[in-house]
Amino acid sequence: MLASLLVGLVLGQSLPLPKYSAGAVVSDSMIASEVGRDILRQGGNAVDAAVATHFALAVTHPTAGNLGGGGFMLVRMADGRTVALDYRETAPAAATRDMYLGANGEPKPRASLDGPLASGVPGSVAGMGEAHRRFGSLPWARLVGPAQRLAARGFAVSRFFESDLHQEAKRLALDPEANRIFGAGLREGDTFRQPDLARTLLRLRDKGPREFYEGETARRLSAAMREDGGLITMDDLRNYRVIAREPLVGSYRGDEVVTMPPPSSGGIALLQMLGMLEATDVRASGFGTAATIHRTVEGMKRAFADRAEFLGDPDFAEVPVARLLDPAHIAAMRASIQANRATPAGEIRTGEGLREGEHTTHFTVVDKAGNVVACTTTLNTGYGSAYVPKGLGFLMNNEMDDFATVLGKPNGYGLMQGERNAIAPGKRPLSSMTPTVVLRDGKPYLVLGSPGGPTIINTVLQTIVNVVDHRMSVRQAVTAPRIHHQWMPDEVRYEEGAVNPDVRAALAALGHRFAARAANMGSCHAVLIEPGTGLRVAGVDPRLGDAGAAGY
Ligand code: DON
Repeated sequence: MLASLLVGLVLGQSLPLPKYSAGAVVSDSMIASEVGRDILRQGGNAVDAAVATHFALAVTHPTAGNLGGGGFMLVRMADGRTVALDYRETAPAAATRDMYLGANGEPKPRASLDGPLASGVPGSVAGMGEAHRRFGSLPWARLVGPAQRLAARGFAVSRFFESDLHQEAKRLALDPEANRIFGAGLREGDTFRQPDLARTLLRLRDKGPREFYEGETARRLSAAMREDGGLITMDDLRNYRVIAREPLVGSYRGDEVVTMPPPSSGGIALLQMLGMLEATDVRASGFGTAATIHRTVEGMKRAFADRAEFLGDPDFAEVPVARLLDPAHIAAMRASIQANRATPAGEIRTGEGLREGEHTTHFTVVDKAGNVVACTTTLNTGYGSAYVPKGLGFLMNNEMDDFATVLGKPNGYGLMQGERNAIAPGKRPLSSMTPTVVLRDGKPYLVLGSPGGPTIINTVLQTIVNVVDHRMSVRQAVTAPRIHHQWMPDEVRYEEGAVNPDVRAALAALGHRFAARAANMGSCHAVLIEPGTGLRVAGVDPRLGDAGAAGY
């Protein structure tokens, strides 16, 4: 891993950066990026390309690309219209606060993670429909068509795809339908065809997005749920609504930062952390030094502590957004950071965390006109609930685990969460997904986001700081090793190469505790629009094997 990161950094300095004069798409699947690029070439705008890329990812990157999940799409059109489309999953009407607890009040192991009961009502297809309705310029069928053909004709399995499936083979084997499709011992070089998914996509292509919520797909999905012990009904599907939210807008060293509001915690935490860091001369204190890491980690802890207490779905719980972003509050958070001591997080809970894998997916699109899209979508953990409703060919999410399923106990990501994020029918679980657009002089400058559960927010933070303060190229910025702290457990996680031994010793002397070295954090695909030339410079995060940029 260190070797590959270092190679990445060195290459980042020596290879020409992928720069495009008109449009660019960067995603976790080169095939999906090319689908988006082709739509741009045919005259589609960034939203058209994003919709096509999203559907293609559902075929070529099934660990996270999806029809059965949800996500957030931050759109900024060249004319200034800006919207955060929230197509997050909702709890089914029959969901209850304690549905994952046994009679003894103890959590039922993995009940919110595996199988149909773990799924919220999927929002992705409605999200794409709404994005297309508001901003699309090409016909819907042209955007779904490429994914449909990829599912029907198949694509070549890569080494990364094979090993990713292999890692989750046991979970996928729990469900006969998932096992039939994904457990067939696919090997690098095989052609992977998904005929059931192709039929589902054909219906969506020809009948439009409502088909998923009212047509044959909805009927079969709700029937499968009934049979297999899930809660999602026809009514749940019919009642699902995308919410167009106003993005949060903050600033960092004169740049404007446009980012995701609740029910994501990402935007609030990001703006708080940037606010705390702004008072430090990060460029002078340097990348990877004890001083910079100390300041950064202390900021992370404080933002995540607020997250645990104050965040949830704003349509169900009172989320004091203005108070959380009040400069006076951020100044107080900053003032509580001690220069020479790590503040203990309080009671330490270790919890059996799943830790981060890269099981969400982020992609970024910029078009010729300067419209930009930052889109993060997920099934939650890898391959979601590992449940495929019979005959439909797609995996369902396990987003219910993002709720505080057991109050006072950490969830699958080891996150502590409060009352405001308790389960209720129709409610959206709290998220960390942080699609973000940084504007310089009023124009999109850096468009980014990442998977990684709670590490998402810190990945976006560090990537912005790498570009703005450390003046890295966008490729170096997404490649550079990362650190993470989420308040509880009270430990710094780090990628290989992020904390050298001297720095670690200096930080330990301040009282920082370190977790065992983490696997990769995130997969941050960014596009930087060079002021002056207007060139679209792609930052492909090298952490996941199939990622790639396509542009023209
Ligand atoms: O919405 C969230 O915050 C999570 N469901 C995201 C999960 C994720 O990023 C998984 N990848 N590691």
